Amino acid sequence: MQKTFPEVLATYGKAATNRSTEYKSRSVDMPEFTAKVRPRPSQETETMSHPRLYPAGIAGRTAPVRAHRAGTLPPALLPVLIVALLLGMPVVPCQPINAQAPGTPAQLNIDTAKIVTPVSPMLYGMMTEEINHAFDGGLYAELLQNRTFRPSWMGIEHWDLVRNGSASAELAVDKTTGPSAALPSSARLTVTSAAPGSEAGLSNAGFWGIPLRAHTTYKGSFYAKLEDAALGPVTARLIADKTGVALAEAKIDIKSGPWSKYEYTLTTGAIAASSTNHLQLSVAHAGTLWMQLVSLMPPTYHDTPNGNRPDLMGRLAGLRPKFLRLPGGNYLEGDRLEDWYNWKTTIGPLVDRPGHQAPWTYYSSDGLGLLEFLKWCEDLKIEPVLAVYAGYALKGDHIQPGKDLEPYVESALDEVEYVTGDTSTKWGAERAKDGHPAPFPLHYIEIGNEDWFDKSGSYDARFGQFATALRKNYPQYKLIATTPVKESEGAEPDVIDDHYYKPPAEMMDFVHHYDNAPRIGPKIFVGEWASMSGTPTPNFGSALGDAAWMTSMERNSDLIIMASYAPLLVNVNPGAMQWNPDLIGYDANTSYVSPSYYAQSLFAGHLGDGTPQTSITGAGDHFFYSATLGSADHVLHVKLVNASTRSQPLDIALEGAMKAHTATVVSLHGSTFEATNSISDPSRITPQTRMETMVSTPWHHTVPALTIEVIDIPLK
Ligand code: AHR
Repeated sequence: MQKTFPEVLATYGKAATNRSTEYKSRSVDMPEFTAKVRPRPSQETETMSHPRLYPAGIAGRTAPVRAHRAGTLPPALLPVLIVALLLGMPVVPCQPINAQAPGTPAQLNIDTAKIVTPVSPMLYGMMTEEINHAFDGGLYAELLQNRTFRPSWMGIEHWDLVRNGSASAELAVDKTTGPSAALPSSARLTVTSAAPGSEAGLSNAGFWGIPLRAHTTYKGSFYAKLEDAALGPVTARLIADKTGVALAEAKIDIKSGPWSKYEYTLTTGAIAASSTNHLQLSVAHAGTLWMQLVSLMPPTYHDTPNGNRPDLMGRLAGLRPKFLRLPGGNYLEGDRLEDWYNWKTTIGPLVDRPGHQAPWTYYSSDGLGLLEFLKWCEDLKIEPVLAVYAGYALKGDHIQPGKDLEPYVESALDEVEYVTGDTSTKWGAERAKDGHPAPFPLHYIEIGNEDWFDKSGSYDARFGQFATALRKNYPQYKLIATTPVKESEGAEPDVIDDHYYKPPAEMMDFVHHYDNAPRIGPKIFVGEWASMSGTPTPNFGSALGDAAWMTSMERNSDLIIMASYAPLLVNVNPGAMQWNPDLIGYDANTSYVSPSYYAQSLFAGHLGDGTPQTSITGAGDHFFYSATLGSADHVLHVKLVNASTRSQPLDIALEGAMKAHTATVVSLHGSTFEATNSISDPSRITPQTRMETMVSTPWHHTVPALTIEVIDIPLK
């Protein structure tokens, strides 16, 4: 039975808020305001509809309790329904939402001759961090999990000892030997008995499976140390879990002596694509073998060594972003001071990268390190928004401003030099040594992340210390603060990063937040935002909230110069996700995008550089719009968001553009708020394009219920 949808999001929404009071609260008390919406882990309570998901048992981190959603039966009505059923009364099936009567006609006036505000060319970008296996087990193409044999109380996780037939062997971590200072330990395979057909070794099943395709070459490598050559060669095999059949095989001769790196390839034949496979490395003779940094790479985006998953890079390009905010998020900070994002340990050969404990419950390999972030930007022809660590840890500690903070300020200066310096500079030369002599473009540097959480009040001074040093060395870059700072500290930020995570209805109620905000002072970067409904990826209700919010950001883009949704990526396997919803979902084999992704891609891909004067009359409360005009191509981009369950008749009157036009209408429609895409049903909601002729103005148009439309009208 189709669910009821109480008229116009009744259970989704809240009353509209007082804008000017609200804006004051942003500029002065925003940390408190936002903290209520965005608690950090230890602050979570049952009353918060908050998406952090943690494995049971992690102290202080509770799973969210979901609020009652639109379309479900309100608990108060349950007794009524039971009584009705007991009395034999008919319970009327719900009407499909599109059968509802249309809303009252509205009129949208657009004066294309009057541009009232500019639209930022940087408005839409991406934010990223290691969360939900975004990189390891996600964008970073490495197929093996725990390739550096990090032990836990469960042993060497993701590795199994192989003892075929009569073979006898042990696998243990040896803390006394490893191939580098960064990787000082290794896996020791001690084989007491093995023979051809009765081999011993180790195996890894990847990140919830190893995806294999037909006629494809996989590049394997490892470091090994061998004392006695009698052990013989290592055989690498890709094996189908279900049948035990080897789908590809290679033999690697190992020299006796110190640590060396070995490389090999495995090529599949005419196999069916699947991810139920594992890698096995085995030997056929007794002896002891030490191994470290065991890697298996599939073909990558642009065939870049140590590169990214091609399908996910395609998805990211499809968002049509202008920048990438990196490397976080909480990932920049870490739970404890020692877990900070120390970029210097994420560059250079993989064997010199120790990895680090990331805040989202798992260890980061740092295979996708600073240079890989920058190359990712280069591949997509976008620029980095570089967040530098500013001395705050998520559990509440901070580095005292002054001399204690100085090494971190130095690190930030070095980092900017690594990104932008020419090869005559120390860190520019280091980047060239790492394979990228050309500097990267940079315009914005963010100092910290969500420092409103620092209740010590140290951010004013920390920001001031970073800003003073950065401005002295790099006056050309704009500095972003993560919360308003006191001017007395001597350093006014150019931009403030505001974050909003809200249920769709609250997001819709929030769309006037910046309308009357002062235009003097710092610009705004909405560095993280999302309407929160749906898991693991946003449902159509979220897409409506997101689209409504984007109309507001476009209208206020003279102030809001950049915005990036978060989080971006999620591995949908059970156990891989820490936060929902997330924009793009995937497993080892395939990926899909959410309705919110399509909304964002459409908004970013159809954006002018100026906002014409507009006015609207007669539209319902849950109707939103924006209009932007391209000064070069003279295309008017009209975005219409009907978050109501009634269709919205709309006369669009174009002043200053009276001739007939052929408009391109791209429409994104969901049959319910809960309708969504998923890994098994990836195309339920997709944009549909049609052409329409506007013969006169006003143009009589109807926006269907639960629909987002992007209309391009060429004016010349
Ligand atoms: O996007 C998820 C998290 O939300 C980010 O890591 C953090 O900055 C915010 O609290």
